Amino acid sequence: MFKHAIVRTPCKNMVAGLTGAGLGKPDHSLAMIQHQAYIKVLESCNVEVTILPPDEKYPDSTFVEDVALLTPHCAIITRPGAPSRQGETEGIQRAITPFYSAVEVIREPGTIDAGDIMMVGEHYYIGLSERTNPEGARQMIQILEQYGMSGSTVDLKHVLHLKTGAAYLENNNLVVCGEFTEKAEFEKFNRIVITEANAYSANCIWVNDRVVIPSGFPRTKELISSAGYPVIETDMSEFQKLDGGLSCLSLRF
Ligand code: GLY
Repeated sequence: MFKHAIVRTPCKNMVAGLTGAGLGKPDHSLAMIQHQAYIKVLESCNVEVTILPPDEKYPDSTFVEDVALLTPHCAIITRPGAPSRQGETEGIQRAITPFYSAVEVIREPGTIDAGDIMMVGEHYYIGLSERTNPEGARQMIQILEQYGMSGSTVDLKHVLHLKTGAAYLENNNLVVCGEFTEKAEFEKFNRIVITEANAYSANCIWVNDRVVIPSGFPRTKELISSAGYPVIETDMSEFQKLDGGLSCLSLRF
């Protein structure tokens, strides 16, 4: 179960965020409304939310998930693969200090975005992507093993991050889409397959026995409800314009 979450308020400069979505510029005012609703959803799942202030230096800084991996045993500060995001780690390191005494750091030449890391119990699947290189994954696995956990890599071909197309919902249930649907690594799971038309909703989050999905995907809601989860929908349109998914907006631990 998660007790805490950390989020960062979207900055006005989010309009300059990285994106390949081709959906236009986000509207900051609407993003603020959506972000506040997202916080309320987390709180409704019995999570205490720490809200960090906007950081105008980093347009993508609302996507806090990428800059740290928070495990039950230690925190690991990543080294984001996009140079424009590497400075985001400093603020997150400060924010996690009250919660963690054991803090590790990924070092150059490793790069890793934690959007590429999916936790399944004590094991962590790490996508090798344009953002996460083999050296970043190697360092991450070494650190996980030092703390009694484990990790393994998964090759990515098409999507930005591993969690763009895969979400673990506990109880052996795994949401998958696109290239992850037939991955040998994921055959052991009960796979909930999301079609390409609904691909954005594959990035959903399990939070204390509920599943949060983006609004506007009734088929995904039906599939996840049928697997036995109460489903909460929340509007993500302005973050989708920056290739951001539901998981990207918080660190949950
Ligand atoms: N815009 C989010 C990212 O590309 O990291």
